[in-house]
Amino acid sequence: SVQPEHIHALRNILSNKTSLLTSIKGCDATVESVSESELDSFNVDWMGKYRGNSKVVLKPKSTEEVSKIVKYCYDHNLAIVPQGGNTGLVGGSVPLYDEIILNVGNMNSIRSFDEVSGIVTCDAGIILENLDNYLAEFDYTVPLDLAAKGSCQIGGNIATNAGGLRVIRYGTLRGTVLGLEVVLPDGQILDSLSTLRKNNTGFDLKQLFIGSEGSIGVITGVSLLAAPKLKAKNVAVFSLDSYDAIQRAFIKTRQHVGEILSAFEFFDQAGHRIQQVHSRNPKKIFDAGRDAAFFVLVETTGSNKDHDDQKLAALLEVLIESEIVTDGVLAQDTAQFTSLWELRETITEAAGKTGKVFKYDVSLPTSLMYSVVEATRKHLAELGLYKGEGSDGKVKSVIGFGHFGDGNIHLNVISDSYDPEVQSALEPFVYEFVAKHRGSISAEHGLGLQKAPHIGYSQLPLNVDLMHQIKSILDPKKLFNPYKFVYRPPLE
Ligand code: FAD
Ligand code: MLT
Ligand code: ZN
Repeated sequence: SVQPEHIHALRNILSNKTSLLTSIKGCDATVESVSESELDSFNVDWMGKYRGNSKVVLKPKSTEEVSKIVKYCYDHNLAIVPQGGNTGLVGGSVPLYDEIILNVGNMNSIRSFDEVSGIVTCDAGIILENLDNYLAEFDYTVPLDLAAKGSCQIGGNIATNAGGLRVIRYGTLRGTVLGLEVVLPDGQILDSLSTLRKNNTGFDLKQLFIGSEGSIGVITGVSLLAAPKLKAKNVAVFSLDSYDAIQRAFIKTRQHVGEILSAFEFFDQAGHRIQQVHSRNPKKIFDAGRDAAFFVLVETTGSNKDHDDQKLAALLEVLIESEIVTDGVLAQDTAQFTSLWELRETITEAAGKTGKVFKYDVSLPTSLMYSVVEATRKHLAELGLYKGEGSDGKVKSVIGFGHFGDGNIHLNVISDSYDPEVQSALEPFVYEFVAKHRGSISAEHGLGLQKAPHIGYSQLPLNVDLMHQIKSILDPKKLFNPYKFVYRPPLE
């Protein structure tokens, strides 16, 4: 556990008084003493589901400071939780006990940008939206977008291998991250900050850290291949009366606008209802389709607005004529573009306002994707926990939405509290369902604390063993983000 003498030593490493916040009593005036509640925003996760009890938050300003902090912690057996914007959804970003929180938010500079190649190198703590705004000045964009963009950091995105809304267009970060700088658990700085697109010289070490969830080091620097920011963007939302219709709409969409397609997202009626109740923008842009069973959002991004508008309008016509969709609306201006996107993007926030959310982020074969929602509703109803949407069961709502084009659905079960009875009704039920259909129990959010014990539902024993070996090589003292990710509990 952290003692006042550790605090003083760590404070001496940091250039700035406000880079260390502590609620430990007995530290001298060179240290920023705060109350325990002032550390809540670092100790409690975005959902209010996971709460740690760290008494020390470090906010270094440089890779060298991170390296010295980590080396000190290694020598003194102090556990660390690397933290970015704390928007993670699996309990990975907050401590379980009193681990030191190492937040990289003060490291937020652009290091270089090459306008010809589109390769940007920056600190890991830069907020995703700020990085995107920087690139926009040069007509480039980050090839990643998600609703948490105003708070999450590029380092956190890479540490979780976040997917988001445009994987269908740009692929995952495994392709667009070109290099990383990482402080390893013993304090060494791994400089893998390549800006090359092609480099076949041995194992691609940076891949180990993409999606490593703070378990084997702190990402401090990033180089990324930005995408050209094309000016012609359009969006349409369709209503549909069955899940089967979404699959047919997807086929037609790729046939008609495949070369300009930049998102193909979906949500169900229950998700749409809660979004409408909590909408920041109560204007009912899509009133006609409001009671539909499903909704699809299609976005196109190209370089010729008239051409793209015509193609999207033609798609809408085909979908309506072939009775695949029951209705549809095409954004006519920027305000409508934003309003239509809000229907999809603000579901997470609306779910959080509705109650406490049990989140499952799964990959399944496309044809089966929605059956996880149906099976969960049925299972909860049989247990007497769910009596339909908005009724008075313990479970108020079961919603399905997500990244249809990526085979990734978000099943959210909303209750008044994180009730253990609901929790044990859902787990391992959901994981068993996913494993039975050879899916993944984490498509894009990671394992964190929530799914660490359940990795075996999606990975074979040999794979898990190799992961443990890698973890032991890089973090032999198991000080980095303990109890999470590929953590193996000690034998009783
Ligand atoms: P944190 O939450 O701070 O940390 C997440 C994990 O990464 C932790 O394990 C932490 O230890 C580790 N970590 C953070 N920074 C570093 C670092 N510099 N070095 C090493 N480890 C680090 N996810 C998706 O995949 N797709 C979505 O569409 C999506 N939408 C979201 C929408 C909302 C409204 C919210 C709240 C979350 C959403 N997420 C989504 C979850 C997603 O994982 C995060 O938003 C984001 O990628 C995490 O970044 P962060 O900076 O907040 O990291
Ligand atoms: C999303 O796709 O909106 C995010 O992954 C967030 C969530 O699952 O709630
Ligand atoms: Zn998602």
